[in-house]
Amino acid sequence: MRGLSEAYAALTDVFVKKSFVGEAVKKQGAALTASKGSLRLTYGVIEHSFLFDYQIARLVPKAPKTAVAVLLKMGMYAIKYMDELPDFAAVDEIVKTASAVGKGGVKGFLNAVLRKYAEKEKDLLPESPIERLSVMSNRPIWLVNRYRKELGAEKAEKILLAKGTTSTHVRPSFAFGKENMRATLEERKIEFEETPHGFLIGSVGTISDLIEEGKVTAMSEGSIEIAEAALPFEGNVLDCCAAPGGKAVYLAERSKGKVYATDLYPHRVELIKRYAERMGVKNVVAEVKDQTMFDPLFENAFSRVLLDAPCSGLGTLPSNPDVVLFKTNADVDALVALQRALLRNVSRYVKKNGQVIYSTCSDLPSECGENVRAFLSENGAFKLVKEKYTEINEKGGEGFYFAVLEKQ
Ligand SMILES: C[S@@+](CC[C@H](N)C(=O)[O-])C[C@H]1O[C@@H](n2cnc3c(N)ncnc32)[C@H](O)[C@@H]1O
Repeated sequence: MRGLSEAYAALTDVFVKKSFVGEAVKKQGAALTASKGSLRLTYGVIEHSFLFDYQIARLVPKAPKTAVAVLLKMGMYAIKYMDELPDFAAVDEIVKTASAVGKGGVKGFLNAVLRKYAEKEKDLLPESPIERLSVMSNRPIWLVNRYRKELGAEKAEKILLAKGTTSTHVRPSFAFGKENMRATLEERKIEFEETPHGFLIGSVGTISDLIEEGKVTAMSEGSIEIAEAALPFEGNVLDCCAAPGGKAVYLAERSKGKVYATDLYPHRVELIKRYAERMGVKNVVAEVKDQTMFDPLFENAFSRVLLDAPCSGLGTLPSNPDVVLFKTNADVDALVALQRALLRNVSRYVKKNGQVIYSTCSDLPSECGENVRAFLSENGAFKLVKEKYTEINEKGGEGFYFAVLEKQ
């Protein structure tokens, strides 16, 4: 199979250096992205990582080094999930890859463990229901427990086991329009599924020219729905945590007013500027700003304030399977505290009768509705006008949340 050494390099970037999988894959170039099998295997290893960790712990007496565990997981994925590859060929490919990447010293070990796995261990699952849910949903045990505590056992199980899709949702710019985009997809014989604001397609590689020209952009239906919740508005809008600019640019395309798009990090503010330029919008004003700090110049200045808060990103698991690999319970608690501080501060920037839209790409109530309820209990001036959770599904849906809070 082509691209296995590159799959190994990408996976060690993820597991050793904690790189994002998308970036690690991109770094390997066409040798990986053009090799369908190796690309599927790269994502597959991450999507089943907790299962493989559980199985490795039962297959070998001592935990292997991370690089060796990566090779084992690659072999386990090939054996368990790649039916087109006979087991002996899968073992062979991994042993060859080990030599190719300078790990020839563990060839015998890999060969023995993977053969044993193929023969009798590949269906091994934990007996405890929580551990089983952890490996089947590819989430760590602490996170399974957190979902169960916040949502109750039944709802947690439904959310954790929901199947997503790896298809990408794309939308046309308002200047290009849906008709033109549909016609282009048909002309290029690209399979698609139409959605309210765009199209679900297999991969953006087939329309990279349209993306470069700013005619089309990748934006999930959930993100669009959040941006739509801020519409229509009079005057200017403040997008507090705006990078890389998905919602800011959408709002700019839909309005005549200015979109003040701020973010904490200068390099991320550059992303907003570049994105606005690519999409040809001129009414985005991008600035570096820490939105936990009060700025009297912004007080009561906007009819709409969008707070798309920094969050765990757990609702985007289908497109970002690595989001669960290294997070801790304490990380999520710290995010909740930051979200509350941001909401408390930026709510002061909205005018009377104006609205704050609070959103996250998480489906954990502690990052969503619980924050909003805590805010409302401290702020009698606001009332909840609308609230929505979306769920992961095979139609491109992801676990997002938004609430519209109106100042009385
Ligand atoms: C969920 S992302 C925003 C996505 C964006 N709204 C979009 O649609 O493309 C959250 C952003 O919050 C930014 N951020 C984190 N802490 C912040 C702070 N104290 N002030 C302003 N921005 C912050 C992060 O850098 C990150 O870019």
